[in-house]
Amino acid sequence: MPILNDAKSYGALTKFFHWVIVGLFAFQYAAGYTMTSLGSQDSALGFTQGNYYNWHKSIGLIALGFAFFRLLNRHYNRLPKWAPNLTKSEKRMMHYYENALYLAMFLMPVSGFVYVMAGGYGVHFLEITHLPNPIGKLSQLATIAKWTHILSSFAILIALAAHMSVVLRHQLVLKNGLVWRMLPARARSPVPTPLPAGDKAQ
Ligand code: HEM
Ligand code: HEM
Repeated sequence: MPILNDAKSYGALTKFFHWVIVGLFAFQYAAGYTMTSLGSQDSALGFTQGNYYNWHKSIGLIALGFAFFRLLNRHYNRLPKWAPNLTKSEKRMMHYYENALYLAMFLMPVSGFVYVMAGGYGVHFLEITHLPNPIGKLSQLATIAKWTHILSSFAILIALAAHMSVVLRHQLVLKNGLVWRMLPARARSPVPTPLPAGDKAQ
């Protein structure tokens, strides 16, 4: 599998970033809901609420680093042509969902970071070192950042469900193998399927 994208398919680097971010987001949602539902003295799976907070903050900042390099990759590594079996309206919608997901990759960690720093909670990074606070305590900013973080976490689920519904409809209903475009070393290009009447591919 080539490292970079070519005209027809995604390369290893794009696939690597895609699935690393999926894994990190899955962890962030699981840890985010666990830590906010545990009491301060409780634990789950052998980890205290404090451990979950520390790891949620640390992995979130690591995800921000990956998002930065992923955006560079998207910018400098040309995109392959759209899959031949996406309709014109699906291409337009996929484009919006992907932009929303890129926004989420930055908005979530940045709002979380601003919240914990402006709120004076800090970050015990990987439970090894306390990060310096570049913001200082600003309670109004902390409140805005906290609500941005919480409300965006719901909005992103909508964009993600929409993104996945296009992919899974093609994969499971139309059975044209769209998901292989983002999986390693499989069919280079999905099987073309007839488009619905009145909706032409570009
Ligand atoms: C990919 C990045 C991130 C994702 C997807 C994410 C997701 C979430 C989710 C789903 C929640 C639960 C929201 C709720 O209570 O309904 C949450 C809460 C929280 N997150 Fe994140 N987060 C990310 C990064 C960060 C970072 C980098 C920090 C701090 C450095 C952070 C700090 C927090 C805090 C303190 C809460 C608790 C908010 C509260 O008091 O309710 N998050 N996050
Ligand atoms: C946190 C979750 C996810 C995010 C942020 C995300 C984001 C993206 C983005 C931005 C792209 C465009 C290519 C790129 O710039 O990298 C993309 C493409 C793709 N994603 Fe996801 N995605 C997520 C989850 C998923 C899941 C769970 C699936 C599987 C059902 C999936 C399947 C695909 C496929 C097949 C493509 C290629 C579409 C095409 O151009 O033909 N994604 N994704």
